[in-house]
Amino acid sequence: VKLHTLAKSKGKLYFGTATDNPELTDTAYDAILDDGAMFGQITPGNSMKWDATEPTQGTFTWTGADQIVDLAQANGQILRGHNCVWYNQLPSWVTSTTWTAATLTSAIQTHCGTLVGHYKGQIYSWDVINEPFNDDGTWRSDVFYNTLGTTYVQIALEAARAADPDAKLYINDYNIEGPGAKATAMLNLVQTLKAASVPIDGIGFQSHFIVGELPSGIQTNFEAFTAQGVEIAITELDIRMTLPSTPALLAQQKKDYTTIISACQAVTGCVGVTVWDWTDKYSWVPSTFSGQGAACPWDENFIRKPAYDGIAIGF
Ligand code: XIL
Repeated sequence: VKLHTLAKSKGKLYFGTATDNPELTDTAYDAILDDGAMFGQITPGNSMKWDATEPTQGTFTWTGADQIVDLAQANGQILRGHNCVWYNQLPSWVTSTTWTAATLTSAIQTHCGTLVGHYKGQIYSWDVINEPFNDDGTWRSDVFYNTLGTTYVQIALEAARAADPDAKLYINDYNIEGPGAKATAMLNLVQTLKAASVPIDGIGFQSHFIVGELPSGIQTNFEAFTAQGVEIAITELDIRMTLPSTPALLAQQKKDYTTIISACQAVTGCVGVTVWDWTDKYSWVPSTFSGQGAACPWDENFIRKPAYDGIAIGF
């Protein structure tokens, strides 16, 4: 059974994957990526980020992002845009300019409006804001918050809405999958934005997990969000382990994939699941978390792991 077809048959909108431009020269990789029955949705892993799309203020470069948008459209796959405003992977002009509230507001409006507008009508959902909170639920100290306070969120969301009224506008973060201070902060933000009629359609739960360490209470937490009138999605799923992988770790990983997919399946407002690339060959994990890896449902030789069956069981 192929995973997007299965997810659709169980009432979800999509099962999808992140991908990145350098991998696309790997024809064996492409053969699986391009299968719309396996992946009904694509997220560019890097090429829509601020450093890639507006490396110099006011000069936009679309080559990488367009390549992935074109690929998804050729395969009949819907797209998640990722992302407009994030503290990371910023061009140096954003981090080095001495901003005023007015000049940074204008820069955010130009960036989000131009980026979202370039793909108007072609993107199912946009991560307009990425990773706004610290793990303790306080606001992340970055150029946006430090210059504009929490108002940068509204500024970006309104610019995105104006640029593509049909795109679902999301805020996306990690360590909000289970209940806790960070999830509460995100829930409070949703309530505040809704009360102020700021456009917000969805919350993305990145879901970068560690084998055997999934939080408890995921479904209940998901329901607390959908009860506020937003949809939700699992946006960057992977479940890493300390290498080397063993049969026992792979068996636990299978269970963990089932757990998170089941939580989405149980919540009507959870629209879909995206893995943060499908093969260990191109996972971001080993280069980011030293000594860890094997986080994806396919191994580095494109062989399905037990995790694949774990996903299928969860839907
Ligand atoms: C990662 C990419 O996968 C890497 O290739 C890049 O070097 C760093 O960023 N949360 C996010 C994603 O929202 O944008 C990150 O993607 C992974 C963590």
